[in-house]
Amino acid sequence: MGRRFLVALGSAVLALSLAACSGEGAGSGGDKSGDKPADLTIGVSMPTQTSERWIADGNAVKQKLEAKGYKVELQYAGDDIPTQSQQVDQMITQGADVLVIAAIDGTALNSQLQAAADAKIPVISYDRLIRGSKNVDFYVSFDNYKVGVAQATSLLVGLGLQNKDGSKGTAKGPFNIELFAGSLDDNNTQYFFGGAMDTLKPFVDAGTLRVKSGQTKIEQVAILRWQQETAQKRMEDLLTSSYNDGTKVDGVLSPYDGISRGIITALQNAGYGSASKKIPVVTGQDAEIASIKLINDGVQNSTVFKDTRLLAEQAVNAAEAFLQKKQPQANDTKTYNNGVKVVPAYLLPIATVYKDDIKATLIDSGYWTAEEVAAGQAKK
Ligand code: GAL
Repeated sequence: MGRRFLVALGSAVLALSLAACSGEGAGSGGDKSGDKPADLTIGVSMPTQTSERWIADGNAVKQKLEAKGYKVELQYAGDDIPTQSQQVDQMITQGADVLVIAAIDGTALNSQLQAAADAKIPVISYDRLIRGSKNVDFYVSFDNYKVGVAQATSLLVGLGLQNKDGSKGTAKGPFNIELFAGSLDDNNTQYFFGGAMDTLKPFVDAGTLRVKSGQTKIEQVAILRWQQETAQKRMEDLLTSSYNDGTKVDGVLSPYDGISRGIITALQNAGYGSASKKIPVVTGQDAEIASIKLINDGVQNSTVFKDTRLLAEQAVNAAEAFLQKKQPQANDTKTYNNGVKVVPAYLLPIATVYKDDIKATLIDSGYWTAEEVAAGQAKK
């Protein structure tokens, strides 16, 4: 079956299901405070299913809204910008009452957001800030700058330059490191990289950390769509171009677990991970189960855990507030300027996870089970 046909089929099904559940409130927006939850539909647009975190996010938002009696239309866009635009368009024309959107490209949905505003549909930007539009009503995310600080800090700790309590470590260096950043069209990328580089700068300036390739600008180190394969290829290229003289990589700043796994594969293929050629310190983000296993096995150094259950809860709170004609509660009204306005935000805390933290942070909280960690795979 052709992909185009599948997209068309998906659209028809979406149109039908939204039409069926939106009742006479279709596209009307406005005061929903008198409507019963069963008469209200929340459109949830997620970027991709290739990363398990977005599947967890989508499921958590859907389940929590449905538990309150709302209808939910959840769509994944396969990391394809036109698909996401089309899915959001349809949610609007078929009468969604609130939209929750995690954008693929933070600047690509402006006309959809205008249509949402015209229909008085509030828009909640989910985890990734939508840029360049005044029609973003609320933002739920984590403290993204602190994610970058945490990633760089875990690199310093892994190298022995710093201790977990923040005190100076015993290692002297100098160490060879390489840097990776996320997708440039994702607003979070600048925050992650900014937080990380502010933290690493004193060590780079002092010569304790050396970026041997010389590639330190975000444009040089960014990985489009956060793809594992692209990251693997870049690491392979770095090893060939900058480490073919017998020198070794000691650490790699990675902004996301999928990228980390690409980096680790490239390193292992080049012989790293043996007694004589230690695997470098590699950071991460999202506590993806495959990476948690790698951390548990001593291959990946660390990840940054962002509890998607709490993020989903905030998205649900914000959606409900809008439906009741209230303003959602923000805890940050300064940081997230999207180029047109400062979007009120609710930011959640983050946690660094090293091997020693897996049990307390991830297993005891029910995020992953011990069996899943051992298997490196989520149980369905
Ligand atoms: C970012 C998100 C990260 C990671 C990345 C790749 O926007 O904040 O947690 O998931 O996308 O999916």
